[in-house]
Amino acid sequence: MQRRNFLKETCRICLLGATGAWAASDLLSCSPAMAKNTFKAPVNNHMAEVPLTLFDNKPLQVISVAKFEYDIAIEKKSNNTYHALLLKCTHYNNQLTETGNGYTCSLHGSRFDKQGNVVKGPAETALLELRTEINNNLLLIHL
Ligand code: FES
Repeated sequence: MQRRNFLKETCRICLLGATGAWAASDLLSCSPAMAKNTFKAPVNNHMAEVPLTLFDNKPLQVISVAKFEYDIAIEKKSNNTYHALLLKCTHYNNQLTETGNGYTCSLHGSRFDKQGNVVKGPAETALLELRTEINNNLLLIHL
């Protein structure tokens, strides 16, 4: 193969690869909740309603909220309080994915710990914490 043809072919393959990676990343980031079996919380008075029993066997839950663009991670603490984080990257608003010890962004690689603090940039700001309250057997998350 001549050098010119080799370069043309290599550039085409790189371009196809980059386009495919972008498309896959875009698909994955658009709604991971649709791919996973997450709890879909109803909304009432601008609050997502999550049954407390959801945390009986797993203290960390990622939920989706009806007509809400981003998933929410909720962790039940040992003192029976709840910590809710909006899984929206603070760099360019991409949906985050839970990793087991925090959250990661597929767009530019930012990582956050379980408390929502930045572990790796380019994001510079911690995740938004959402206010929660308990009402009977429901955890209410203020949206
Ligand atoms: S949008 Fe998340 S790192 Fe850029």
